[in-house]
Amino acid sequence: MSKLLLELKDLTIFYKTLIGWVKVVESVNLSVDKGEIVGVVGESGSGKSTLGNAIARLLPPNSKIQGDIMLDNVNLAKLKESQLQKYRGTSVFMIFQNPLNSLNPVKKVGPQLLEAAKVRYNREGKKVEEKELVEETLKVLKELRLPDPQSIMERYPHQLSGGQVQRVVIGMALLLKPKLLIADEPTSALDVTVQAQVVKLFRQLNEELGTSIIFITHDISLAYVLSNRIVVMYAGRIMEDGDVDEVLRKPLHPYTQGLVSSIPKGNKSQNRLNAIPGNPPSFFVLPGGCKFNPRCNKVMEVCKQKEPSLVEKEGRRVRCWLYE
Ligand SMILES: Nc1ncnc2c1ncn2[C@@H]1O[C@H](COP(=O)(O)OP(=O)(O)O)[C@@H](O)[C@H]1O
Ligand code: SF4
Ligand SMILES: [Mg+2]
Repeated sequence: MSKLLLELKDLTIFYKTLIGWVKVVESVNLSVDKGEIVGVVGESGSGKSTLGNAIARLLPPNSKIQGDIMLDNVNLAKLKESQLQKYRGTSVFMIFQNPLNSLNPVKKVGPQLLEAAKVRYNREGKKVEEKELVEETLKVLKELRLPDPQSIMERYPHQLSGGQVQRVVIGMALLLKPKLLIADEPTSALDVTVQAQVVKLFRQLNEELGTSIIFITHDISLAYVLSNRIVVMYAGRIMEDGDVDEVLRKPLHPYTQGLVSSIPKGNKSQNRLNAIPGNPPSFFVLPGGCKFNPRCNKVMEVCKQKEPSLVEKEGRRVRCWLYE
């Protein structure tokens, strides 16, 4: 049996803006194995959410994609909306950066969670009593440290705080147990102890069922805690992709080096990505050559002329002229 679950081939994503189509993700080639946890990191605006939403085929209407999204040999990129329903939830589930988008605003939280659990039982071909579904749902909410889960289930999404919505949607993922979970900044509204608990529950889901996870975060130290592999994005491109320990021990790309050196030492969990001087470029006016060249402390003449490609180096992939 193949180990491969997801394979992105030259995935390119555009948004329509007032001045026309803008490319925000450029030719991403990426594969994720069954049971693998891939952390996608990069500063805000690097295209992480766009990439995650595209894989789940949940981009906004002002977007278009090129390339292939092969999930278990089905090309999601080529499916129509009506054909996608079959894959959403069970094959792939997305925790949006804005988790309210994952919930139906006019339905109470309880029925939505029960529905998620029911979908999973149906997929497994098991019959189950309503009472069991309720028990399982309450248990998941308790594990997520939600106080008074019973009353949470009685509420509408807008009656919850940001942190509660985030946990409800994480709960939905834990009940659905999809083959691929895409979690976009899933712990941004949670305090550190709940964040650690979520990481633990994700790891459990991964270990018990082999769920693959794409964990999107701007916080490389958080990605490190959960992931097997790190993919570093900048200006809509993969800059480095490799085993998490190796990337952290010896980052090859100057941008990754900046991210890694911004990890606070000691027990301060605050992240300071601004340790790299300057800001990411605007997609309207990307620099020529290497997109990182205006901020790079190792920039050479060739970097301004030609964009490097993503090449194999020391068992990982890196996009930088220092390695070509
Ligand atoms: N719906 C949209 N329409 C137009 N541009 C968008 C839209 N969503 C995101 N963008 C732009 O796409 C780029 C990448 O955004 P995003 O994928 O959210 O990055 P990240 O998740 O890494 O912060 C940004 O420049 C952002 O402003
Ligand atoms: S290609 Fe050049 S500018 Fe880009 S990261 Fe490498 S050294 Fe820096
Ligand atoms: Mg984002």
